[in-house]
Amino acid sequence: MNDSPATCPFHDVAADRPATRHSPLVAVAFAVAGLAMSGLTIGAVELGWHLPVSRAGFVVPVAAIVLLALGICAHQLVAHSGEQLLQVGDRPWPQIPRAGRRASPGPGRVRARAAHPVHRPDPGPVPDSLGNDEIRAAAEEFLELFHAENPQTGWLGPRLAAVMREIDLTGTYWHTPEELAFGARVAWRNNARCIGRLYWRSLQVRDLRTVGDAGGVARHCFDHLRAAHNGGKIRPMISVFAPETPNRPAPRIWNEQLIRYAGYEQPDGRVLGDPRYLSFTRELIRRGWQPPDVPGAFDVLPLVVETVDEGPRMFPLPAQSVHEVPMEHPELAWFAELGLRWHAVPVISSNRLLIGGVSYPAAPFNGWYMGTEIGARNFGDIDRYAMIPEVAQRLGLDISDEASLWRDRALVEINRAVLHSFKASGVSITDHHTESRRFLIHLEREERAGRRCPTDWSWIVPPMSGSQTPVFHRHYDSELQLPNFFADPDATTRALHGTPPAFR
Ligand code: ARG
Repeated sequence: MNDSPATCPFHDVAADRPATRHSPLVAVAFAVAGLAMSGLTIGAVELGWHLPVSRAGFVVPVAAIVLLALGICAHQLVAHSGEQLLQVGDRPWPQIPRAGRRASPGPGRVRARAAHPVHRPDPGPVPDSLGNDEIRAAAEEFLELFHAENPQTGWLGPRLAAVMREIDLTGTYWHTPEELAFGARVAWRNNARCIGRLYWRSLQVRDLRTVGDAGGVARHCFDHLRAAHNGGKIRPMISVFAPETPNRPAPRIWNEQLIRYAGYEQPDGRVLGDPRYLSFTRELIRRGWQPPDVPGAFDVLPLVVETVDEGPRMFPLPAQSVHEVPMEHPELAWFAELGLRWHAVPVISSNRLLIGGVSYPAAPFNGWYMGTEIGARNFGDIDRYAMIPEVAQRLGLDISDEASLWRDRALVEINRAVLHSFKASGVSITDHHTESRRFLIHLEREERAGRRCPTDWSWIVPPMSGSQTPVFHRHYDSELQLPNFFADPDATTRALHGTPPAFR
């Protein structure tokens, strides 16, 4: 899908045309003359002609070399004239450090295991608003990458010139649909926490940059869920909504994912549903959301979209957009009685996509699940559905003795149930052994392409049987690369607590 104009509808800046250049002719003329003279000289020697060691014999080869050199220099000038052009009439380029690469992971990127065994802190090293100089530097770096990896897209120089002008005039710029698609795919490729990156090229990009109202965002999110589910054959997909601009802030999606389950505190102090969203649920109820008459463990929360004009608005998800998988075990009949289920498509919706200095705070994206995300973390974590003790007891294990490894045994059965159930429902899913091997193939490919592949060991190693997967036994590059996705601190707080609003 690609329904948006190639220029920005918010500020109608005509794309700069490349200036007509005559210099290629000059360069070619010099080079041809030089080559001809050297050719003549060499030919003469080869034919055994006796060249007298005289002035003429010295001057001819030297002249040939000089002409050749002039040709090469002229060619160099032409090759870079695109970049030179944009300085004409523009402010001079300040020499500022590249925004893209950082030597250290930056503050906030702490290994999960060190301080927080459960909630892993999110990175926030790139500010969400950049000054013009930073945008220019980031745009240049991105466009260089785009053109280097897509040589068929034509000349870098003129495009760079147009973008620099646009930034000077408007404080931002409008990606071409091709730049946007490439930027989104590379943001996935660069995401250090994702083990599923082998398929980064297959990401489907929905260009929805003209959509900035809450109702439109919600509607397209619901379409995204249907299209990504694709009858069970899940398609990796991203919907990119209106970007952040100096005169109009982008819409925000509050929810951490498009589909999340409510958590309710019960009179006995226990939680019904997903405890991760206890506080978020409470805030939505305070804002007027009505839970079902009989609250359950898997009540889908409404989508909250906030815009600067409308404030936060809530939209219940239509049933056709919510595909779920009921959990059953391949052998243990009682497992289905636990009443567990999970949604088929994980669409992360609170991250900001950053491409070449342009921020897209509303850019929900999805892949398909790896079983352990649901089986080990969502069902297993003690601050989530915490199913391990109940399953262990049903399995008849001795939970008074840690050394019986009842936790591990229950974990395995829950994870078998998740993989089995998705498969039985015809919904794409992957297991952690297969996905680990695929990730190593991805690493190899990236290395062959001469690229670094930033990887966070603590996120890549699966939460069960880590040492049984090859990703456990090695080191990785951890340097941040752009484009990328960012979990901004405010957005993360909003996704968990429904506050603070983005625009007050
Ligand atoms: N871990 C998250 C969850 O359990 C999903 C994160 C994205 N996962 C994915 N396979 N794309 O919902």
